Amino acid sequence: MATDKPRNVIAEQKGSPEAAFLLCRETSSLFLHVAKSTQTIQLIDNNPAIIALFISDYLSNNGPSKQPSQSANSSPDAERRQSTMSTYHLAIIVGSNRLESTNRQLAEAIAKLLPGHIEVSYPQIDDLPLYNLDLEGERPASVNRFTDEIRAADAVLIVTPEHNRSLPAVLKNALDWGSKPMDKNVWFDKPVAITGASPGAMGAALAQQHLRQIMGILGSVVLGGEAYLQFRPGLITENGEIGEDSHQFVKSYMDRFVSLIEKLVQR
Ligand code: FNR
Repeated sequence: MATDKPRNVIAEQKGSPEAAFLLCRETSSLFLHVAKSTQTIQLIDNNPAIIALFISDYLSNNGPSKQPSQSANSSPDAERRQSTMSTYHLAIIVGSNRLESTNRQLAEAIAKLLPGHIEVSYPQIDDLPLYNLDLEGERPASVNRFTDEIRAADAVLIVTPEHNRSLPAVLKNALDWGSKPMDKNVWFDKPVAITGASPGAMGAALAQQHLRQIMGILGSVVLGGEAYLQFRPGLITENGEIGEDSHQFVKSYMDRFVSLIEKLVQR
């Protein structure tokens, strides 16, 4: 990927060893990285499903040669295996609406640990109005966009800070919108993993515990185990990757989640 990767990426997909794309949240720009060069395309729609169609069309019509190039850390066998694997879509919800959110940095670093057949997007939650039953007659467009994105996702990863020993209100609000009406609850049967960080030694553990309880009540299949992290220097490197001390811990947690998704999501 290009070294000048934009911040606030809301979707990311590795199309092939030669092609990848990033969608930048603030500008709705699509950064296509193809054959070692990056093109920027202004989008009129930032719905991940539409972007995925655009990318697959781009790759089949104008994309790079279908000859797989052998990169330093992949064998022809590994590439063949990868190409026959189903692709899964993971929605990563960041439980902070802060521009410089440390949990957003953590979420983007975690996305880098995922194998190529897991595509990610970052559904926006900070533009959802406060839940109000009076709005149910005609749900706001931002709410429909959010619930459509979650419904279309194969699985959800929630990366959240802790607010007063619980989850932030902006995240709870998004969960509430997704839970109603009851027969359209988008969280039901959805594989969900939970992680997050805070500067305190308990690393958002209580927020995660509370969130685990809520997701269980909403009918999600929550990955067992815990992954709470103290946000301290070195947790995320300058290159936006998980630092050495926590790398294996976070990777094992995500490997377990990928394996759960592969078992639960039928193709
Ligand atoms: C916090 N913070 C916090 N941290 C913690 O470990 N336990 C807590 O209960 C709280 N409570 C709390 C309440 C409120 C209202 C705020 C604003 C903050 C600190 C919080 O975890 C810290 O600011 C994180 O860095 C926020 O995450 P982002 O926004 O950087 O992702």
